[in-house]
Amino acid sequence: MNVLVSGGAGYVGSHAARMLSRAGHEVWAYDNLVFGHRGAVAPGRLIEGDLLDRGKVVATLREKQIDAVMHFAAFAYVGESVTDPAKYYRNNVVGTLSLMDAMREAGVWRIVFSSTCATYGEPRSVPIGEDQPQNPINPYGYTKLVIERALADFARAYGWGYAALRYFNAAGASADGDLGEDHDPETHLIPLVLQVAQGRREHITIFGDRLPTPDGTCIRDYIHVDDLASAHISALEKLRPGTEFRCNLGTGRGTSVKEVIEACREVTGHAIPAVVAPPREGDPPALVADAGLARRELGWTPRFTSIGPIVESAWKWHQSHPDGYGA
Ligand code: UFG
Repeated sequence: MNVLVSGGAGYVGSHAARMLSRAGHEVWAYDNLVFGHRGAVAPGRLIEGDLLDRGKVVATLREKQIDAVMHFAAFAYVGESVTDPAKYYRNNVVGTLSLMDAMREAGVWRIVFSSTCATYGEPRSVPIGEDQPQNPINPYGYTKLVIERALADFARAYGWGYAALRYFNAAGASADGDLGEDHDPETHLIPLVLQVAQGRREHITIFGDRLPTPDGTCIRDYIHVDDLASAHISALEKLRPGTEFRCNLGTGRGTSVKEVIEACREVTGHAIPAVVAPPREGDPPALVADAGLARRELGWTPRFTSIGPIVESAWKWHQSHPDGYGA
């Protein structure tokens, strides 16, 4: 298929674009490079543009004879979405609707959409199944939920086939260390811990160690970025008119902040000093996927099921790219 990957110069999008291309698809990354990196895209495969530029999106879809869209482009800082919701609704909701309009105009009906476990808000129980209520507790989560709803309506009204894939915590880097995580600012746990091991930070701050979890620190479900990518490809290849996939992407296994730091100590051989601070506002104590539905519906199984190898892949990337793609 000819596939347009919006946000294809970003963290998850770049891994998916490369895997798609290796699976034999014809791939174009569409990215405004606000957060994306030119160096994350294969030579000659980047189309620089904004999703809000509907004319450019329609022209691209037509010119490249696009069969399907993988839509990663979004702002994803939860805290910023609370202080500047307008930015998030404009980019994540209006930008996506503009893309969807462009798809209708160009006759493209397949889309795989990056959704998030943040659409569940505070879960009723853990592990979180897809049947749990979606009650986001921040604007970021709402922007993703709005699009999930719009996709369901488009599928029914216009016969679209779509997958809304609800990521848990994306982590790790490609096996060869060529692609990896490069956010500015960086807020995610694993890259921050590895920056301590690189001597770029004095210590890691643990947000809360008296939470209702076995070791008192937050539990998350870390899913390798290449496993996310392979789920997208499985979903894409299964889309037919009217198909609706709404699946969690996680491993089903939770890892605490202390366990992540310990894994990083083992992988890097660095002592990694840690300092405890109060919990971060809006951080649920535990988010772990019930990952069964994606296995059944997409026939997908994550290859990375424990934190050690995920951290190893991230460490390889951070060592070979100490300044990220800027190096
Ligand atoms: N944490 C720390 N110290 C840090 C950074 C993070 O203790 O310096 C903790 C957090 O409290 C959290 C865990 O490490 O418990 C993971 O934090 P991240 O910031 O790496 O990831 P989040 O779980 O906060 O965020 C992820 C995605 C978001 C998504 C959110 C849903 O990155 O896009 O899950 O809750 F919205």
